[in-house]
Amino acid sequence: MRKGLTSYGDKDFSLFLRKAFIKGMGYSDDALDRPIVGITNTYSDFNPCHGNVPQLIEAVKRGVMLAGAMPMVFPTISIHESFAYPTSMFLRNLMAMDTEEMMRALPVDSVVVIGGCDKTTPAQVMGAVSADRPTIVLPVGPMLVGHFKGEVLGACTDCRRLWGEYRGGRMSGEDIEVANERLVPSVGTCGVMGTASTIACMMEAMGMTLPGAATIPAPHADRVRIAEATGKRAAELTKGGIKPSEILTKDAFHNAIVMLQAIGGSTNGVVHLSAIAGRTQTQLTLEEFDEIGRKTPVLVDLKPSGDHYMEHFHYAGGVPRLMQELKDLLKLDAKHVMGGTLGDAIKVFEDVPGQTVIKPRNAPLKKEGGMAILRGNLAPRGAVIKQAAASPKLMQHEGRAVVFESVEDMTKRIDDPALDVTEDDVIVMRNAGPIGAPGMPEAGYIPIPKKIAQKGIKDMVRMSDARMSGTAFGTIVLHISPESAVGGPLALVRNGDRIRLDVANRSVELLVDDAELEKRKRDWKAPPVPDDAQRGYAKLYREHVQQADEGCDFDFLAAVRK
Ligand code: FES
Ligand code: MG
Repeated sequence: MRKGLTSYGDKDFSLFLRKAFIKGMGYSDDALDRPIVGITNTYSDFNPCHGNVPQLIEAVKRGVMLAGAMPMVFPTISIHESFAYPTSMFLRNLMAMDTEEMMRALPVDSVVVIGGCDKTTPAQVMGAVSADRPTIVLPVGPMLVGHFKGEVLGACTDCRRLWGEYRGGRMSGEDIEVANERLVPSVGTCGVMGTASTIACMMEAMGMTLPGAATIPAPHADRVRIAEATGKRAAELTKGGIKPSEILTKDAFHNAIVMLQAIGGSTNGVVHLSAIAGRTQTQLTLEEFDEIGRKTPVLVDLKPSGDHYMEHFHYAGGVPRLMQELKDLLKLDAKHVMGGTLGDAIKVFEDVPGQTVIKPRNAPLKKEGGMAILRGNLAPRGAVIKQAAASPKLMQHEGRAVVFESVEDMTKRIDDPALDVTEDDVIVMRNAGPIGAPGMPEAGYIPIPKKIAQKGIKDMVRMSDARMSGTAFGTIVLHISPESAVGGPLALVRNGDRIRLDVANRSVELLVDDAELEKRKRDWKAPPVPDDAQRGYAKLYREHVQQADEGCDFDFLAAVRK
């Protein structure tokens, strides 16, 4: 155990005291006089995605000890998508603060952050780059696929689909119960290209994980082996190894965006990557996502936009194999946690004859990347659309606005037979942004009003300041910034206004003249602060959360730019 770091006053006495306490747990001097590798423990009975964390911790510890260092495990909070009220996004920054401050507080020389469920890895990396201790990311890995009546199932794309079947009377109560037991057949993160998988692939492209770490299934023996190897590398990093701030450079963010676009990744990837960049000296704009997206084809055929699951992506060669196809678009000189460059890290890859998951460059799934960035008088600070999952005929569309005041208002009225709406209208929902909801829920997937769905219409233009699950489909404009709760133009839209969406020209316009908008702005009143945001974390969140284009980090956590 080193002197310094957490000591103040008499450094020798501080070390003496620390040793006295830790020896109470039976450690010897031989164990303590070694470099320390901290390992985060995000296991929780409420977090099935992290169910293999105890086994991974054991393997990391083995790797650390094989390399002659000392592993020490410490807990941080654990956030699962389905067990986080009001939203997991509301808690992401709390986890980032927890991770950062524990990394700073404890006498660790390097850290392995183990995680995977949507918000975890972004929170851990935000914390890690701010604390700036040498860090390796170890994803928990995707879950296995399920099987039901000869069909392959994956959470949670098929959770939504099957529930729709059941609600529509096309699936029996007995069958939905069996399916409920089959949708999540193992521990690990969702088996589709949702947010968790998107982030894991981006982390591998950024050089924050060992090569191949993003896709190995959670229960696979290779997952345990890569945990051991991660522990070994973390032990080497204790000797003045590379720090997150040295890895997370402009080039690394470029590589992450290439990955995000090539896998047709989750729109949440934009928010989290922006938040991580905000913790570094790198300035990342939404336009860079768009520019890189125009040059990057979608090559991975995975649910929700394609056919396969994470497990199949892994057996097809995973991220290293995919990066071979993207070499000319990647910055191969970017630094890697393994010590060399990204170019070195992707040299080892497996070519799997006959695989159909990773498409070759000359036969992409889509010529352009999965998502586009929009701007206009309705979204002066940007908005996102997942064009890979949108209807081509709606990509250029003008329609009448049908406005909902909030998620609750939308839920209450969307299926009302008296609702004045046609399929050519543009559905607008507000007060669902970072502050408005709060926590920017994944409510952007506004359902098609029942009376229109009954005509067989599957898609309409929908817009909001909310996010959307990585698993949803439709011509849906998300993350409109600034949000309506702070008086963004979305707050000024009225029923019957005309809105024009033009994805090819990257614009979203409210066709109301400036003088009228000025007048509406003067008349606008901010929604009152809810009672439960008068104190505590909710108050801190409300007062400091930034808008979506900045990644929804707290303003006081952003890096002080040099
Ligand atoms: Fe944890 Fe999907 S719920 S990754
Ligand atoms: Mg999700």
